[in-house]
Amino acid sequence: MTSTRSPYHEAYAAWQADPEGFWAEAAGDIDWFRPASRVFDPEAGVYGRWFVGAECNTCFNAVDRHVASRGDQAALIYDSPVTGVVRAITYRELRHEVATLAAVLRDMGVERGDRVVIYMPMIPETAFAMLACARIGAVHSVVFGGFAAKELATRIDDARPKIVLSASCGVEGGRVIPYKPLLDEAIALSSVKPEGCLIVQRPQLSCELTQGRDRDWASAVGQAKAEGREAACVPVAATDPLYVLYTSGTTGIPKGVVRDNGGHMVALKWSMEHFFGVKPGEVFWAASDVGWVVGHSYIVYGPLLHGCTAILYEGKPVGTPDAGAYWRVIAQHGVVTQFTAPTAFRAIKKEDPKAELLKAYDLSRFRALFLAGERADPDTVQWAETILGVPVIDHWWQTETGWPVVGNPLGIGALPVKHGSPTVPLPGYRVEVLDEGGKPVAPGTMGAIVIKLPLPPGALPTLWQADDRFRQSYLSVYPGYYNTSDAGFLDEDGYLWVMGRTDDIINVAGHRLSTGGMEEVLASHPAVAECAVIGVKDSLKGEVPCGFVVLKSGVNRTPSDIEAELVAMVRERIGPVAAFKLAITVGRLPKTRSGKILRGTMKKIADGDTWTVPATIDDPAILDEIGDALRGRGLA
Ligand code: COA
Ligand code: AMP
Repeated sequence: MTSTRSPYHEAYAAWQADPEGFWAEAAGDIDWFRPASRVFDPEAGVYGRWFVGAECNTCFNAVDRHVASRGDQAALIYDSPVTGVVRAITYRELRHEVATLAAVLRDMGVERGDRVVIYMPMIPETAFAMLACARIGAVHSVVFGGFAAKELATRIDDARPKIVLSASCGVEGGRVIPYKPLLDEAIALSSVKPEGCLIVQRPQLSCELTQGRDRDWASAVGQAKAEGREAACVPVAATDPLYVLYTSGTTGIPKGVVRDNGGHMVALKWSMEHFFGVKPGEVFWAASDVGWVVGHSYIVYGPLLHGCTAILYEGKPVGTPDAGAYWRVIAQHGVVTQFTAPTAFRAIKKEDPKAELLKAYDLSRFRALFLAGERADPDTVQWAETILGVPVIDHWWQTETGWPVVGNPLGIGALPVKHGSPTVPLPGYRVEVLDEGGKPVAPGTMGAIVIKLPLPPGALPTLWQADDRFRQSYLSVYPGYYNTSDAGFLDEDGYLWVMGRTDDIINVAGHRLSTGGMEEVLASHPAVAECAVIGVKDSLKGEVPCGFVVLKSGVNRTPSDIEAELVAMVRERIGPVAAFKLAITVGRLPKTRSGKILRGTMKKIADGDTWTVPATIDDPAILDEIGDALRGRGLA
């Protein structure tokens, strides 16, 4: 396998030989108002900045520039089985919608550099909102709808938005979820008060607007349309922030990942063609949510920058209405490439193991399935390959990187697949595996997965107004490298194997969550003395959180009542997305002699993996107690 050569190797070597030349050439696919004076300036920013001196506009490149050549092509297809709506929006219509909304944002006082929080469901207005911010140089921060008011408040406090864009409700499977009460509570909780809110009233549930603060989206946009008012694309520096997207850190305080304008466009455009192997005009579907990085990069920006038709799907892989939902969308809209999380395919496989529902659909235009967001287990990959008969491509990246780090580059020549490995580093990324002392390990040896600095265009330059936290979280452990916080190994063929996180982040149904954040919630319960949250293997969601709590002495309430309160508290403070359904009361937690909770060993016990008693353990008997407690709940 080592001898297998593909154009990938040439592309990677070309990047290695001349990274700046490589990205300068890729930048030729973007329209700039002013070209960069330096492709990369190592002295700028925390570790250097890309396309310094350039001026550009992301909305112009994603929307306006396509109108002349593909104005009547669908830019977005909103497909919503939960509301029964399918609506295509052409590039010409998209430009009009976005430019008008941008004028409304201007009316509300939004200027270049101001932040706008977007707390919205999967409807076209959400994409319009992101693009309208980009158009006027405002910085959007989309907050996933499954987060609770408290999480939204934390993000509002950090981003300090001038306005918040929201909607009356989301529709989750068969349920209508009111958003407005969450928005109101978040604004009440936050210490920073936005000047105004713009609210989409959805037909499924309307809400009362708060006088003096809220404006009705449809009437504001309708009035601007009637007056023919539109806002033009504002030139911004390539290094200006396009958006801030909060992601879980090791504490309950999320990290505001910053994405710039110039490097982001260059990297995403490059990835659409060279990684995903998609051509302008083709239909690309990332079945995710705009609240996640996948939604930012591959529902909205990537496909539009490339002149594709992007699908915005408001539904689930199963239950809307059945496990054939994905096949229906692929066939109906002529999707060539789909991107989703392995958990979605596990859900489909569970409901329709023989893929009977697939037989009703013509998937002849479908070329490839891309999976990311969590480890793609070989069973699921093989199942998808068998039923679909197209390449199934696992690829690995993070909110921080914004686009794939390691993958099988279909666009420049796919390599042989090894199930369980996302394949090889893409141009832009020198991936290494280091031991605890920061020394590279031999092939096949596990260690910390790191990326040699500088990170490529598109990856985060810093955290929002927190350069020191950025340095400390990512750059300080292994000087000269970005620490991914994933562990794994490179094999003899240079394939990466990602085996898990080195921090307390867990991955639940492709959603990244902090167990530290959940522990903060559990610890705040008056009856809880101490606690530990771990991710336990789950056949559908990959992992689900499980919280162990030790009650304070003297608490004479039934543990099951307290456990129910703890489950409700996590849902209330973090949100339903945490999928926290299991709190278990135990007498003691296993610790090292220095007092560190042995979460890793607890996880092995819960997962039924082989485990050994750590040499540093204080009292080995506690591990048996944990095993007994888990067995009492039908686990381990
Ligand atoms: N707004 C409000 N609530 C939301 C929400 C949103 N946007 N998204 C999820 N939730 C809620 C769900 O309704 C669920 O609530 P419940 O506990 O009352 O049932 C909870 O959050 C957990 O959601 P989820 O983890 O998505 O579980 P699920 O059981 O609803 O669906 C899957 C399971 C596998 C079908 C689902 O996770 C899925 O479609 N995954 C696709 C992959 C994906 O989107 N990955 C994202 C990164 S690429
Ligand atoms: P997020 O920032 O939400 O995209 O989550 C990123 C994390 O998800 C990574 O650091 C990994 O831990 C995990 N992850 C994403 N893609 C993969 C993959 N293909 N294989 C294994 N883990 C993955």
